[in-house]
Formats: sequence, C-alpha cells, structure tokens
Amino acid sequence: MREIVLSDREKYLGSLLGEENETKKMSRQFADELGLGRISVSAPEARLVQTLVRMHGCKKFVEIGTLTGLSAQYICEGLVEGGELWTLEKEAKHADMAKQVFAKMNMGSKKIHMVVGDARVELERIASEGPFDGVFIDGNKAAYLDYLMWAEKNLRSGGLVLADNVFLSGAVWGDTSLQRFSEKQARVMQEFNQRLADTSLYTSSLIPTFEGLFVAIKK
Ligand SMILES: C[S@@+](CC[C@H](N)C(=O)[O-])C[C@H]1O[C@@H](n2cnc3c(N)ncnc32)[C@H](O)[C@@H]1O
Repeated sequence: MREIVLSDREKYLGSLLGEENETKKMSRQFADELGLGRISVSAPEARLVQTLVRMHGCKKFVEIGTLTGLSAQYICEGLVEGGELWTLEKEAKHADMAKQVFAKMNMGSKKIHMVVGDARVELERIASEGPFDGVFIDGNKAAYLDYLMWAEKNLRSGGLVLADNVFLSGAVWGDTSLQRFSEKQARVMQEFNQRLADTSLYTSSLIPTFEGLFVAIKK
C-alpha cells in the first residue's frame, strides 16, 4: 500500500479545522490505538458533514460505521434540538470505545443510540423508528448498495444521503495502486455512484475530497 503524504493544503485545512474538543480528541486517539486512525473521517470533512446535516435541518439521522464515534459527534452537533442519531457498528470493541466517548459528551436535548451488529440486519430493526431525515454511509464498502436501497425506503422524501469513500481509493476508475479491492467491490461502488448520480432519483453531487464524498437529496 502506498504511503499517504499530506499536502500543504491538507495540513493547512487540518490546522484551521482540527478537532476542537476533548471527546473528539478521545475518539481520534482510540482509533489510533486500534491502528485505524487513517479510516476516521478527517476533521475538515467531518465539519462538512456536520454543516450539511445542519443546513438540511435533520432531526432523525442514521450513521452506518461508527468506529470510535468521531463522525457521530459532528453529526450529533449538527442535528436540530431534540435530534436523535442511530449509529451502527459491527465490531463490539469499536462500539465500546464509542460508548465511552458518548458518555463523556454533553448532548443536551439530543440522543445517540449505539447499535451493535451487522448494519444490514440492524437497519431493518431500527426501520420502525423512521422515516429518517438523513443517513451517513461509512460502513462495509461492499454493502454500500444495500445500505442505499434501505435508505431509499426509510428516508423521508427530500432526505439527505451522505456517503464517504466513494472513490474506493481510486478503484472506481481502475487505480489499484493505493489499495487493492476486488472487482466485485469496485463494481458495487460504481453502481452505487451511478444510482446516486441518477437525476430522476436524486439531486446530487460528488465532492472530490481525497476519498470522495457523495451528497444527495432523495426526490
Ligand atoms: C471507516 S470506519 C467508520 C469511521 C467513522 N464513521 C468515523 O469517521 O469516525 C468503518 C466502520 O464500519 C464498521 N463496519 C464494517 N462493516 C460493518 C457492517 N457490516 N456493519 C456495521 N459496521 C460495519 C467497521 O468496523 C468500522 O468501524
């Protein structure tokens, strides 16, 4: 795997928009302890997600892929008063760390529900809490299309779909030098992106962050 070197632009963004409180630093540190710091969302991207959640006035939101709860905190802060976030994580160890972080947060009127298990199963269990105002997809890359099918059924009309890593480290255009993905994984992500780009289904755009962030509003 090729080493990722931060450009001066990325360093500047990080210095301007870095983690600003203790619980966010704690999530980042837990992710580093797991050796997974590089798969947490970057602070500037997390602030973009938070801004979009706030602009959309989201109250009931779902996150797929909690890791140690970093993006969940940004989303929670973006929700309107009384907002609720259901965040789904397969690995009990990751979820335990996220729970420790959430316990230290000052959430005010908001709530985070930590849901542990395979997202494809757990999404069906939480469906009765919907319809939801938005979803942030950041879980198993091979299941992105299944997550989207769930979102199409369980988001309100006008609901927000945010999805990270949609370039699949370049695999969607055939570059496998950063990280190897199977042909199936690349095909699933290509279909996922094509669906979100379909103007009969979504008003959307793909923000060319390093990993690619799709932003779409369900019609
Ligand atoms: C990229 S990380 C999420 C990062 C997190 N959103 C953040 O930025 O702070 C992906 C997470 O999805 C979890 N995951 C992978 N497959 C999953 C599945 N089938 N169901 C639920 N979570 C899954 C992984 O264990 C990992 O913690």
